[in-house]
Amino acid sequence: MSPDVATDRNPTNDRTPLGDPTPVGDAARMGDPQWWRSAVVYQIYPRSFADGNGDGIGDLAGMTSRLDYLGALGVDAVWISPWYPSPLADGGYDVADFCDIDPRLGTLEQADEFVARAHERGIRVIIDLVPNHCSHEHELFRAAVAAGPGSPERDMFVFHDGKGPDGAEPPTNWVSEFGGPAWHRLTDAEGNPEQWYLHLFAPEQPDWNWSNPKVADFYDDVLRFWFDRGIDGFRIDVADSCAMDMSLPDLPVDPRTGEPTREKFPGHPTYDRPELETIQRRWRAVADEYVDTPQGGRVFVSEAYLDPIQRLTRYVEPGRLHTTFNFDALLTEWDPDSQRAMVTNSLAGHRHVGAPCTWVLGNHDQPRVASRLGRAVTGAPFRDGALGERAHKGPDPAEDIELGRRRARAAALLELALPGGAYVYQGEELGLDEVDLPVEVLQDPTWEQSGHTDKGRDGCRVPLPWSGEAPPYGFSQDPGAVPWLPQPAHWAGHTVADQTGTEGSFLELYRAALALRRDLPALGAGPTTNGDLVWDETTPEGVLGFHREPGFTCWVNFSEVAVELPAGTTVTLSSSPLTDGLLGTDQAVWLRR
Ligand code: BGC
Repeated sequence: MSPDVATDRNPTNDRTPLGDPTPVGDAARMGDPQWWRSAVVYQIYPRSFADGNGDGIGDLAGMTSRLDYLGALGVDAVWISPWYPSPLADGGYDVADFCDIDPRLGTLEQADEFVARAHERGIRVIIDLVPNHCSHEHELFRAAVAAGPGSPERDMFVFHDGKGPDGAEPPTNWVSEFGGPAWHRLTDAEGNPEQWYLHLFAPEQPDWNWSNPKVADFYDDVLRFWFDRGIDGFRIDVADSCAMDMSLPDLPVDPRTGEPTREKFPGHPTYDRPELETIQRRWRAVADEYVDTPQGGRVFVSEAYLDPIQRLTRYVEPGRLHTTFNFDALLTEWDPDSQRAMVTNSLAGHRHVGAPCTWVLGNHDQPRVASRLGRAVTGAPFRDGALGERAHKGPDPAEDIELGRRRARAAALLELALPGGAYVYQGEELGLDEVDLPVEVLQDPTWEQSGHTDKGRDGCRVPLPWSGEAPPYGFSQDPGAVPWLPQPAHWAGHTVADQTGTEGSFLELYRAALALRRDLPALGAGPTTNGDLVWDETTPEGVLGFHREPGFTCWVNFSEVAVELPAGTTVTLSSSPLTDGLLGTDQAVWLRR
């Protein structure tokens, strides 16, 4: 490529015109059938990634125009949060049609175009499958409501009469994940109350009845619809749900709170049910129909917050799903003992079933990693088998963002050096922080359903800053466009354009790490399944270190003092500049031995 062309094709500032003959990336990477074992997967939250038509909402045209950015970043795949038609009661996780694209995001043809252009760059495409629920506007739910009690249409969902003489009490004491009861009572055309339906999430998200075989058939068709269009895999939303105990037992009440327990205890009526194995094996069989296609096998990644790790890794036993998010990495406190225990435990659990780990630092449901690591409480580990996450959500005015960014850089080098794959949530590579949004603009159902006590997840979903000094920071084609969530003034200086080619920027750290990850044979999945990490027992107090072969060592300094690096090593990459050659507090380094 000539220097002129390289300048023209600066992936930061230019929108790649469709049909560009020299995409940034490497199509040859599409040839590896085991790609998912070590893939770095970039999560796109479509409404907040890039706006191609200037309406303030990210869309497929914007995504396609930014593919060279992702090619230059060096990711192996993208996972796209739901792009389906949706009334957006839960950010698109309330799906009104599983086989179409939301018109605000584009068309099916544009989705095909995106997939083709991604593949040209060697970037695989994973989309979201939401199997626990749909939107209350889905045609099958509308038909169920219209058909009335006892109908086959209603049997696709979980409808039930209420308790008490007039059925005014919900069928069980189950609670919604967003707060409040997990049942909603319908009223008929005359305004009379009738049956209740189950929604483990928002009332606009009715749960399917997976004990009805027609539901499984329906999802087989959805999988094939997208696999036939060239999609490489699915992220399975709330993969520990779907199946439930249809005898509808009440949950035990937690004596400490007087409320139904939030613990996902063994035998729970709605979570981690044994029936899930049949469902997952069925999905796997559909994916395996595609193994012999030129594109190769298609994959699943499960989303489930489960503890201990052995419960989670059952989902990735042979013949079930391929990978599962390892949320322990995201939930663990920033201290060396907790981090080491988490890594050891995660690798052992995955090794046992022969699946690779997939490390996760953030996503669209959690506070930005740079913010989280700058807070007094840096993790939210499982307690009593329940996710201790309530205090973990939303903004925190007391956070120290500079501390958080320093740690987030170190955490990135730690994560990317571990055996297995890794996920990068859009904006993580820019070091973005959690935005404290005014309550009038909040859209996450958590805000309403928590009775205005939890600002929820919008703060990590603010549209990305690409360039310029003021909103919309190049997010929209139209500089006058108003992004669907407001971007903060303090993002000036943190845009992609600002960080591209800037020594020491977050983005350049990620690019360097991902490039090295490709080049160094010690990194990625490793020669054996997760079996190639050896802890370095010679590190000073408060420093976590490990070796991978050939010749790679990673050290992370959690202590208050700067330490000397091990003799006989040279620095390949450091999370921030070393002072006097010493590894300082909250710094990580990749070393060659
Ligand atoms: C998704 C959330 C969503 C929920 C219900 C989660 O796991 O990541 O964003 O609200 O599922 O679909």
